[in-house]
Amino acid sequence: MLILEGHGLTKNFGGLTAVHKVDFEIQEGEIFGLIGPNGAGKTTLLNLINGIFPITQGEMFFLGQRLNGLKPHQITRLGIGRAFQIVRAFEGMTVKENVLVGSLFGTKKRKDIGTGMKETEKILDFVGLGPKKDYMIPEITIADRKRLELARALVMDPKLLLLDEVMAGLNTREVEDLMEMIFKVNRQGVTILVIEHVMKAVMGISHRIMVLHYGRKIALGSPKEIAENEEVIKCYLGERFVRKEAERKGHSRAK
Ligand SMILES: Nc1ncnc2c1ncn2[C@@H]1O[C@H](COP(=O)(O)OP(=O)(O)OP(=O)(O)O)[C@@H](O)[C@H]1O
Ligand SMILES: [Mg+2]
Repeated sequence: MLILEGHGLTKNFGGLTAVHKVDFEIQEGEIFGLIGPNGAGKTTLLNLINGIFPITQGEMFFLGQRLNGLKPHQITRLGIGRAFQIVRAFEGMTVKENVLVGSLFGTKKRKDIGTGMKETEKILDFVGLGPKKDYMIPEITIADRKRLELARALVMDPKLLLLDEVMAGLNTREVEDLMEMIFKVNRQGVTILVIEHVMKAVMGISHRIMVLHYGRKIALGSPKEIAENEEVIKCYLGERFVRKEAERKGHSRAK
């Protein structure tokens, strides 16, 4: 079953077309990667999905329902959660309070503080922030901020989770932890759309990947197809990545 469909999606900022006639379909249960050079339109596409920017042209459907014209909070309540590229936490609150706010006010279900608190604790344990739940935001590391951003999206109980560069700035170990966490969320039935520049991560977790370049879709396919696509290599991955992949597989094509 399709969970998200974009048909001819276009977004103009004045004279600049940030997203140009993009078509895509995401299957329920999928991990769908979105890659492309800086300024390719990836974050803008996410902003169209969750209603932060109005769609200039084209249509978007979530589980068959048309999203055009809906407000971000309405879209969140339909079941689309999001972790932002720039982490937006309330600096004057604790880790726990930051997640609790989302739990109490972000979903359709009305709930009391006790229920919200229980859900919050469960999700903080899941993302590994249990021991730091009473820390103030300025006291936690970048990796913890990324985990918090994930927790704030998960507490909304999304059917579709949008992740924008949650791996940026993390070390190898932290990237691996986060990949494992994303797999776990996906196994619980959550569909995931992930924007990522960390190639090892996006190639490792995605079922399919779409590549944007100057707002246009230039490729869509399995990680293997994308890694071998001439245009994608030329525009984004570069020869260095391809050589590294070949060496990793033990049949170096490096010259
Ligand atoms: N609010 C805005 N107003 C005007 N132009 C914008 C706005 N947001 C994005 N753009 C422009 O749209 C284009 C796409 O930007 P976008 O942030 O979607 O790229 P991206 O693929 O997410 O890049 P990155 O990998 O650097 O995060 C860029 O040229 C950017 O300058
Ligand atoms: Mg971006």
